Amino acid sequence: MEVFATIEELKSAVRAWRREGQVIGFVPTMGNLHDGHLSLINVARSRADRVVASIFVNPLQFGEGEDFSSYPRTEDRDKTLLEENGCDALFMPAVRELYPERGMPVTIVEVPELSNILCGAHRPGHFRGVATVVAKLFNLVEPDLAVFGEKDYQQLVVIRRMVEDLCFPVEIVGAPTGREDDGLAMSSRNQYLTESERRTAPALHRELARAAGAIADGEQDFGKICDRSLAALWEEGLKPDYFEIRRASDLAVAGEEDRHLVVLAAVRLGRARLIDNERIDLINRN
Ligand code: PAF
Repeated sequence: MEVFATIEELKSAVRAWRREGQVIGFVPTMGNLHDGHLSLINVARSRADRVVASIFVNPLQFGEGEDFSSYPRTEDRDKTLLEENGCDALFMPAVRELYPERGMPVTIVEVPELSNILCGAHRPGHFRGVATVVAKLFNLVEPDLAVFGEKDYQQLVVIRRMVEDLCFPVEIVGAPTGREDDGLAMSSRNQYLTESERRTAPALHRELARAAGAIADGEQDFGKICDRSLAALWEEGLKPDYFEIRRASDLAVAGEEDRHLVVLAAVRLGRARLIDNERIDLINRN
């Protein structure tokens, strides 16, 4: 695997592959890789001739008081894992390489309607940071396809919308959420959990699955379903930021007529903020 720290090196490698007609798959990450990330690499490998990953802890998507400086950085281990999983190139720029001016971009990319709801309402500026860095990385890597985890469902919807609106020639591929045996979604932030918090954390996925089950069984009072789950999460010792049922395509508030839904939640547990979701497709209902 080749490792590039500069834009110039990265561009010359991907351009050479492109000239040879190779299909390029891209997996952007912030490092501290776990099996969930590796499954994204595997999806990219199954669809592309060359796989490029990036590791960049993007300051622009962290708010004041968030964990930018303490975000786990495990670069040597990450390189080994990427190499073992068939990644061809890793782009690992310094902050000044991507944001030469004072470490921050001057131009920003924003998808306002989708960015200020759900997680965006609790993390102002977060999705602006994500959209800006992903747009920049797409312009540098010029991938044919890019793979994102469905665990970050709102991020996936924001990026799909940005790609559509700005006409990026990139196919966005959503990959299923990697889970631990007890259902907890894999996340770098799980390592902030103490042993007892780790035992409590699977309640998040249990409640999402319970709500999805109620909808699949025909319950239509979405407000009541969410209130029940919010109460259950507080009872379990989790502090929910939100628990909501939305339309899967655009995260609009879901109504009885919608058939493709997603239940999304974010909770605080000790030092960690955990997010997860469950999709529901009511295909056989009139
Ligand atoms: O999901 C992440 O790890 C980040 O938000 C991303 C997409 C790499 C952008 O920094």
